[in-house]
Amino acid sequence: MHADRPRTGRVAGKVAIVTGGSGDLGAAVVRMLHAHGATVANLDRAAPAENWGTDAVADWTLDITDAAQVASTVRQVTERFGAPDVLVNAAGILGRPAPSHESTEDEFDAVFGVNVKGTWLTTKYVVPSMIERGGGSIVNFSSIHGLTGGGNVPLYHASKGAVRLLTKADAVVYGPHGIRVNSVHPGSMATRMSRSSAERSPLGAEEYYRQLVSGNPIARQGAPEEIAYAVLYLASDESSFTTGTELVVDGGYTAH
Ligand SMILES: NC(=O)c1ccc[n+]([C@@H]2O[C@H](COP(=O)([O-])OP(=O)(O)OC[C@H]3O[C@@H](n4cnc5c(N)ncnc54)[C@H](O)[C@@H]3O)[C@@H](O)[C@H]2O)c1
Repeated sequence: MHADRPRTGRVAGKVAIVTGGSGDLGAAVVRMLHAHGATVANLDRAAPAENWGTDAVADWTLDITDAAQVASTVRQVTERFGAPDVLVNAAGILGRPAPSHESTEDEFDAVFGVNVKGTWLTTKYVVPSMIERGGGSIVNFSSIHGLTGGGNVPLYHASKGAVRLLTKADAVVYGPHGIRVNSVHPGSMATRMSRSSAERSPLGAEEYYRQLVSGNPIARQGAPEEIAYAVLYLASDESSFTTGTELVVDGGYTAH
């Protein structure tokens, strides 16, 4: 156990669980944490696009909305790598763009299932060992869409708003146990999710991007590494006095 962990870096020696590590932002987080010395478990329903090229990163295939699968996977990760010091909840889905009255119950359950229930379930099964060991860092992926409303994907906004407040509530509860809980709020990123959002918008892709990006102080989409650096900070001991906060990484979108 812990034998092949890198010994240098900003999260050296830590064990990290990252959900959604096969996705664009999650994969950047996996690479970043590993580059800075962590051993990383990627929990995703899809296989990663890349071969990580190291024994210090491993993949588990599961549906994070299924409690039994989450419980058993956290157990397996702990047996293989040791108890997790870091949990990053990056798995998320956007859902079909539709106004609330045209959305279906299944669509509601799917979006809230992955974004909210999934984040809660991994927390539920990871926190006990963090309490036992007296520390840990949890980083939940919300979004700028968890801070402001918008006309495209109301259920996604609602779910990411819920992630923002689950984060703050958990920060309050687990702070006395040495466990920090923070959320990251990416703006428009150069990812598949963002492309699909633009392409499916009733505004049309061009107008969607114009509204989302062109008026920003930094008028471009972000790169996945720019989110991964924010997660690295929150995962590391550098942020030891930071909990319940929302780290917005959006090129200034919400500064207006
Ligand atoms: N891309 C953006 O512009 C953007 C902006 C703001 C916030 N976010 C948030 O950042 C996070 C990562 O986004 P991304 O762009 O990497 O998305 P992505 O679609 O590339 O990756 C999401 C990953 O989650 C996994 N996943 C989905 N449902 C799952 C389930 N039930 N069980 C296990 N795994 C599941 C998918 O297989 C995928 O690998 C998401 O929470 C997203 O809402 C993204």
